[in-house]
Amino acid sequence: MRKLKWGMIGGGEGSQIGPAHRLGAGLDGAFEFAAGALDHRPDAGRDYGRRLGLDADRAYGDWHEMLEGEKNRPNRVDLVTVATPNSTHYEITKAYLEAGFHVLCEKPMTMTIEEGEDIVRIAEATGRICAVNYGYSGYSLVRHMKAMVARGDLGQIRLVKAEFAHGHHADATDADNPRVRWRYDPAQAGVSAQFADCGIHALHMACFVTGQDVEKLSADTVSCIPSRVLEDDAMVNFRLSGGTVGRLWTSSIAIGRQHGLTLQVFGEKGGLRWAQEQPNQLYFMPLGGRLQIIERGEANLSPEADRTSRVTIGHAEGMPLAFANIYKDLAEAIRAGKEGRPIDPAANLYPRAEDGLRSMAAVFAVAESGLAHGQWVEARPPMFR
Ligand code: NAI
Repeated sequence: MRKLKWGMIGGGEGSQIGPAHRLGAGLDGAFEFAAGALDHRPDAGRDYGRRLGLDADRAYGDWHEMLEGEKNRPNRVDLVTVATPNSTHYEITKAYLEAGFHVLCEKPMTMTIEEGEDIVRIAEATGRICAVNYGYSGYSLVRHMKAMVARGDLGQIRLVKAEFAHGHHADATDADNPRVRWRYDPAQAGVSAQFADCGIHALHMACFVTGQDVEKLSADTVSCIPSRVLEDDAMVNFRLSGGTVGRLWTSSIAIGRQHGLTLQVFGEKGGLRWAQEQPNQLYFMPLGGRLQIIERGEANLSPEADRTSRVTIGHAEGMPLAFANIYKDLAEAIRAGKEGRPIDPAANLYPRAEDGLRSMAAVFAVAESGLAHGQWVEARPPMFR
């Protein structure tokens, strides 16, 4: 079976997320890194691409050049990852989908709900995959949580509690740091800072695991550092389509918290607790029973968990391997499409453009509710009401 060809836009030298994508895409031998426009500085992007092993004629200076160079090649890339800053996602993703490429776009997928709806329509019209990198949904035990909820191990889900709270923007004297400043500048970040950056991961996780969508929400948004226009902390109450109550806290001023992504799910028959910093253990408490620690890689887990676990039990797996599971799903989806067969259901779990759009609607709802002192507001995108 020939390897699929993979291209990347953004993720240049020194970027935060580029290495995790390259590790993830390369891990199972399904994708070969074949083309890239890796940096906003053309020469730096070409040079870095060549150093990473790209052929000189496929280490491009920018994404337009890459589109022209790839679209008519017989061995053109099968999948393009967009890992550039947020404001560029829409135009790049749109252009590549329209040229017939499958795309994995970083979150947030777009800057507005309208752009999000446009991407959903284009993906549907072109029949191309548009995935969104809610990469934490790739963890084996997150897949297992979803499987446990779906098969009824917890009964009806009453409550979900999600957090994504870190302390990396807590230093008020660091406000002019260029890596921090843009995130709280409405012109560059849009209507929300911390919720759009981190809160949407926690919200996506709550929806992914419960299999429900957000319908309405109420948000208390604050800038704990007063010079910031956009929020650095938010507490969001929400309601899911299956009746589950949702609570979410996201913060960037929580000193002492590192990554801080956690999920707890409480049903009629039991509760689950998982933390991204200890991703190889899942805590399950059955009603009236004893606390159980489920280990990644143990026997008799769900097919969804088995498929996304690579290293023997007791040896830690981490975040790039979660990203690798999104790529593993996408490789299966692309191959199934080429071969005209249905996709393996255990692989059909990668986040879609629809998830990216729902996140944008939630971002705008949080901003609206925050300004209205926590008033409950509609959180579904117009397209899905
Ligand atoms: P970064 O600022 O560290 O790196 C951005 C890279 O993109 C740089 O190499 C830059 O030269 C390049 N770039 C900028 N404009 C470009 C253009 N027009 N064409 C080609 N390359 C261009 O940013 P970071 O933190 O890596 O974030 C990138 C994206 O990934 C953001 O949308 C962010 O929200 C998302 N992200 C997602 C995470 C996840 O867990 N899914 C985690 C961290 C970031």
